[in-house]
Amino acid sequence: MSTHPTRIAPSLLAADFSCLAQQIDRVEQAGADWLHLDVMDGCFVPNISFGIPILESIRPKTRLFFDVHLMIVDPQPYLAPFKDAGANSLTIHIETCPQPTSILREIRAMDLQCGLVLNPSTPVETLFPFLGELDLVLVMSVEPGFGGQSFQPQALQKVEALRDEIERQALHLPIQIDGGVNPQNAASCRSAGVSILVAGSAVFRAEDPSRAIADLRT
Ligand code: DX5
Ligand code: ZN
Repeated sequence: MSTHPTRIAPSLLAADFSCLAQQIDRVEQAGADWLHLDVMDGCFVPNISFGIPILESIRPKTRLFFDVHLMIVDPQPYLAPFKDAGANSLTIHIETCPQPTSILREIRAMDLQCGLVLNPSTPVETLFPFLGELDLVLVMSVEPGFGGQSFQPQALQKVEALRDEIERQALHLPIQIDGGVNPQNAASCRSAGVSILVAGSAVFRAEDPSRAIADLRT
């Protein structure tokens, strides 16, 4: 079990895009800690979601922490625009930035939190040299690109390996998981070492999001 506080980060990808402000308000009232924002370019992943103008327009509508997951081939030119649009953290893929040290430092120099994420097929060890540069580390439990997929339990082995390596390096780094997370698998995520649970469908599509968030938390 992680010593970090458990945080629930509903993914906006599963919201009804015709009324974003209301949808965000609903999960904020329901007890969400962060808002997870999946930015997709149709190139790194086979889907296009939303980008900077959407962040700008929702930023004044909520006090939630904007946790931005960049699924884009070339994140570097967009760091400052995402900060200006209201991001609080920027998470980049190791597959797009195999030598991420300078970009991670650039993110932190802008006073944003920085995260590094890996796809299901990428070995977890690729992250180990960079853990000291991070504010969070994200494990994908589905192929990135789409919400509503089934959780891949193999992701938990990566979480455990990361947890052990974080301890070995004497770091204090929260582990986030993303994809197919629901109240049924949340407990195993947490006991593997996850403290930040991203959940799209399980929260935005729930009849009672407060209940869904409470169930994810316990
Ligand atoms: C997938 C995204 C996820 C996704 C999660 O590329 O990174 O954040 O929206 O959605 P669910 O929880 O529905 O799998
Ligand atoms: Zn995501």
